[in-house]
Amino acid sequence: MQRMGSGVAVIPTAPEATRNRDSHYPYRFDSYFYYLTGFQEPEAVLILCAGPEPKSVLFCRDKDMEREIWDGFRYGPQGALEKFGVDEAYPVSRLDELAPGLIAGQPQLFYTLGSDPAWDHRVTGWLNQLRAQARSGVAVPRALTDIRALVDDMRLVKSPYELGIMRAAANISAEAHGNAMRAAKPGAMEYEIEAELLHTFYRHGSRSPAYASIVAGGANACVLHYVANDAPLRDGDLLLIDAGCELEGYASDITRTFPVSGKFSAAQKDLYELVLAAQQAAIEKIRPGGHWNEPHEAALDVLIRGFIDFGLCKGSPESVLESGDYRRFYMHRTGHWLGLDVHDAGEYKTAAGEWLQLEPGMTLTVEPGCYVRPADDVPEHFWNIGIRIEDDAHVTADGCEIITSAAPKTVAGIEDVMRQSI
Ligand code: GLY
Ligand code: MN
Ligand code: MN
Repeated sequence: MQRMGSGVAVIPTAPEATRNRDSHYPYRFDSYFYYLTGFQEPEAVLILCAGPEPKSVLFCRDKDMEREIWDGFRYGPQGALEKFGVDEAYPVSRLDELAPGLIAGQPQLFYTLGSDPAWDHRVTGWLNQLRAQARSGVAVPRALTDIRALVDDMRLVKSPYELGIMRAAANISAEAHGNAMRAAKPGAMEYEIEAELLHTFYRHGSRSPAYASIVAGGANACVLHYVANDAPLRDGDLLLIDAGCELEGYASDITRTFPVSGKFSAAQKDLYELVLAAQQAAIEKIRPGGHWNEPHEAALDVLIRGFIDFGLCKGSPESVLESGDYRRFYMHRTGHWLGLDVHDAGEYKTAAGEWLQLEPGMTLTVEPGCYVRPADDVPEHFWNIGIRIEDDAHVTADGCEIITSAAPKTVAGIEDVMRQSI
């Protein structure tokens, strides 16, 4: 509310989503709403009234014994008031009656126009209701501001509390990757390995992956968003797993790539160690005062030199960078912000168009990769090799902390773990 200065913010949580007929997807709250409230129930709205006498008002589902017998506990306004620290709380059934009064007289409305047509319609209705009372002296907000811009800046820098949860999420996911390595063997199906990941997530209290798990054997690893996970694993292939759990709303995001048989071939090892070196170069650039793009530039430099050495690209490092020829084998960026959303809130450039400077508390992924599809001009021993190595980094006062380092990553470390069976 201090950041708003004046005005009123309307922040609904996410709607429930139907899966089929009367079954719903597992409910996931809206990240902005949750960041500001900690409240996890559906059908809730936060209204923040800034100004000289700021107040927070939560609308939520009323207590309802019948519904609670069928669907489970609800806080109700009184419970929410006591537990979540809002100034006022009302049943969400009274929202249309009370919201116009909270908006009236405020100079600006903070609302995320365009993200949900049903909410746009509802909020527009409140504004029109107030406009109809203009001759009675009711003032209608004159400015509409996207609340996300204010909250994004806050979400970008994690508090020690948030970091504690993210470390716990990272540890669970790291253990899951180790277990996946132990479980992998020729003939197993990709989804059997996915089951190991989910088992480890759930066993530690995570109730969902943070995004659809990618379990991609052999050529499937060259499909960046492969989620079918339904092919058999073959001796001699690599297995790329990109999977992370969500814990108390916070994402982790880890990728490991390892040989199905437990032993890297010479060509696999060459490319793997190249990607690992690129990741190490990127990690060394994560420090306060450095800018967002430095890790990407460092990883790209290492990859391009390796692509040239291995005969994948031709020319000098400068010419390959300039022409973009490397994109055939490395077509994504080296990371993204991480937090409540796997691709978390927050800008990557300043308003002036400069790359953002890293600050302590920011959390990002470092995920270089290399994906080689068969082609006449590509050495055959590299065909169908897809590798990505992804860790989660937290910017500290003098560098960064890799919070996912418990997942085996070196060639020797992976081969060691794979000698153990689950
Ligand atoms: N798993 C999504 C990503 O790595 O960005
Ligand atoms: Mn990622
Ligand atoms: Mn990932």
